[in-house]
Amino acid sequence: MSGKIAASILSADFGRLGDEIRKVEEAGVDWIHVDVMDGHFVPNITIGPPVVRSLRKGTSLFFDVHLMIETPERYIRDFAEAGSNLITVHVEAAHHLHRTVSIIRESGCLAGVSLNPATPFVLVEPILPEVDLLLLMSVNPGFGGQKFIRSALPRIREAREYIDSRSLPVLVEVDGGIDRTNLKEVRKAGADVFVSGSAIFGEPSPGDAVREMRKILDDPSL
Ligand code: DX5
Ligand code: ZN
Repeated sequence: MSGKIAASILSADFGRLGDEIRKVEEAGVDWIHVDVMDGHFVPNITIGPPVVRSLRKGTSLFFDVHLMIETPERYIRDFAEAGSNLITVHVEAAHHLHRTVSIIRESGCLAGVSLNPATPFVLVEPILPEVDLLLLMSVNPGFGGQKFIRSALPRIREAREYIDSRSLPVLVEVDGGIDRTNLKEVRKAGADVFVSGSAIFGEPSPGDAVREMRKILDDPSL
């Protein structure tokens, strides 16, 4: 597998979200990454289930919903019914993580857990056998267009080794500051899914940006 590209609509034009998604869909993007922020867990506010429901009508692409919100268990069913495929919650925000992951599964979605850049990996170890995806943040969540934090690289390697040594069917996703210049090393560190917002929707042609990224991921020398 060459890796999946998840386009984060946080950096897209919110007034034309349907068109923006169409552009990356035509270019062969794998997933749409939806950043949900509540102004409490992170210092920014974005979108809720009604927007996901509207976007769902225009595409069959996989919706990767990243909840950067406190008490995420309160909103999981709404996001699932709106058409999410995978819902990720932050370890730092979910006080009863096992219960929250169970709610995601019962709602019919795949389940992900996420770690902020300074949160120790050991905190997700007990839950990894129960989830489909581990999302490692490579910026402090809250905003698009931030610089990739390089200490994320050894953390990706650590996660990859842990998951592979136990043969766990868990994808490693990395989010924040990913662009054409660092995609290769993030891939080499062991990531499976690459979230990118500003390096796709901040470009004159988001479609070309996706095609360029795909070319890098498909490079046989990797
Ligand atoms: C940050 C979000 C990211 C963000 C990534 O809090 O979780 O998904 O959209 O954007 P870029 O690729 O611009 O860092
Ligand atoms: Zn995100």
